[in-house]
Amino acid sequence: MHKPARKRGRYDQVGCSPLLTRGLVQLHGFAGNYIRTQMEPHLEIFEPYDRLIEITLLGEKRLVPENNSILRCLQYLDAEKISEADLCWNGDCIDCQVWIRSGDKEKALISCRANAIEGMEIVRLSDALT
Ligand code: FES
Repeated sequence: MHKPARKRGRYDQVGCSPLLTRGLVQLHGFAGNYIRTQMEPHLEIFEPYDRLIEITLLGEKRLVPENNSILRCLQYLDAEKISEADLCWNGDCIDCQVWIRSGDKEKALISCRANAIEGMEIVRLSDALT
């Protein structure tokens, strides 16, 4: 009997592994009087890394996995928001643009195509990432 191919879901279209789409881990904890839900990214969606590097994201020091695109690092920091954003993950849509500090100026980068590097300062995010 022929088994129909699995229908592609929205997460497949944005470059997340099937494990992320099927196995979202949600942590429920109390914060004040409401329940806060947070997704944890599965490690297999990242390029291999040995350590976390420090970047500055909108004025805050954050630790992200080395050897990964800026977009993947943003997903590391906020799996739910980035996984649900309407992005191509392949350099076509340009909706993943971020701006980094470069001397006295800002420089635009396509975050799915540029790796995060130690000390990088991201000063602005595109609307799709906020
Ligand atoms: S996600 Fe579309 S260009 Fe980066």
